[in-house]
Amino acid sequence: MAEVKVTINGAQTSGREGVTILELAQENGIKIPTLCYLTELSPTGACRICIVEVEGSRTLVGSCHTPITPGMIIQTHSPKVLATRKVIIELLFASHCGFCMLCNKANVCNLRELAADLDVGLSPFQTRKRFYPIEDNPYIQIDRTQCILCRKCVRACREIAENGILGIAYRSFDTKIVIDNDQPLAQDTCRDCDICISVCPTGCLSKPKKLSAAKTGKPLIIC
Ligand code: FES
Repeated sequence: MAEVKVTINGAQTSGREGVTILELAQENGIKIPTLCYLTELSPTGACRICIVEVEGSRTLVGSCHTPITPGMIIQTHSPKVLATRKVIIELLFASHCGFCMLCNKANVCNLRELAADLDVGLSPFQTRKRFYPIEDNPYIQIDRTQCILCRKCVRACREIAENGILGIAYRSFDTKIVIDNDQPLAQDTCRDCDICISVCPTGCLSKPKKLSAAKTGKPLIIC
């Protein structure tokens, strides 16, 4: 396969044809933040946090789904890129429920980590928030209020677990993660493969607290 020469952050490098900007950056030890990307899954470009600046491009481009081309000049951490990533996180927080201390992931999810890296506190944007009742069965808890619609769980359920139980439905403000064409979460719908839980970047998908306590035998502390 042909080698493609590009410049990243001022340094010349090369990668195999078909490699994405993100993959090449990772090969060169450059960390580009991601939320919806996972090596094992096909990229969708849903979250846009991995954007980079490419000379000659009118817009910032998503690095997780853009292949390198000969002569590309890429900036992964320019002031414009950093400022835009910050706004993306602020917009995600604007629609995401902010009760982090009550969340099953206890304030240490990927979204929070990214926000800390980019120095994002409270979102300056005011939006309508989506509130949904929490659903659970013995294996999984779904809190759609925490969902940022990255679609990672949907792809993991289909492409890794090969189940296709989770899907995405409705449009615009009503878009949400659904189970079996928007059926209530049944006792035996979702079992304990835990794949979607492990890839969820927020507290939307988690183990039910009751089960965690039963498994560990430790007393349950709910804040
Ligand atoms: S990580 Fe590239 S668009 Fe989400």
